[in-house]
Amino acid sequence: MPLIAPSLLSANFLNLQQDCDMLNASEADWFHLDVMDGRFVPNISFGFPVIEHIRKATSKVCDVHLMILEPEKYAEAFKKAGADILTVHIEACHHLHRNIQQIKSLGMKAGVALNPHTTIDSIKDVLGDIDLVCLMSVNPGFGGQQFIERTLERTRALRKMIDDHQLQVQIEIDGGVTLENARSIVEAGAHVLVAGNTVFRSNDPAGTIKKLKSIS
Ligand code: DX5
Ligand code: ZN
Repeated sequence: MPLIAPSLLSANFLNLQQDCDMLNASEADWFHLDVMDGRFVPNISFGFPVIEHIRKATSKVCDVHLMILEPEKYAEAFKKAGADILTVHIEACHHLHRNIQQIKSLGMKAGVALNPHTTIDSIKDVLGDIDLVCLMSVNPGFGGQQFIERTLERTRALRKMIDDHQLQVQIEIDGGVTLENARSIVEAGAHVLVAGNTVFRSNDPAGTIKKLKSIS
């Protein structure tokens, strides 16, 4: 059974309380919060005040996905805002090991995200130091994009690497997850499914989360 992490990028920003209430009452496991800086990715989303308010509106895990340059400058502020998991992009970190140490020392779980072009092998030497790998299944920056099929092979390769080393690292798949492709993603070895459009554009968001969750 996968963990479900709806992305609030597709939520109603004029009524976040309502969407938080829906997620709280649903089978969603995590709140996936996408932070974009307009530099690492060609879009700007939201920052600390929004996350602080979401933190107050839920006791579920706040999974913060940073699509920003120089994440070390802001890690402490994201902890203060309420992040439980902080994920940085490998492509944005010159000193990834140091970034991971910083996140852990602040008392958060550490995640590393890989863009679709970044080889799985590039994560190998820090795999024992992190809690989560976020495999991007779209190019980051926007919700509602189409799933890149090659991600399935990448997921299998990463899962094998994790299992071969008997690690507890979770694989999160982010981008273009639908009711149609979710099963194959889980079968490839994913532990966590991020879903923005599929959940929030649905007529029955809680029912859609339930369907994603029921994949065995
Ligand atoms: C993309 C974000 C994703 C995105 C997922 O840059 O990291 O979390 O919001 O949205 P969907 O599920 O709509 O592709
Ligand atoms: Zn994301």
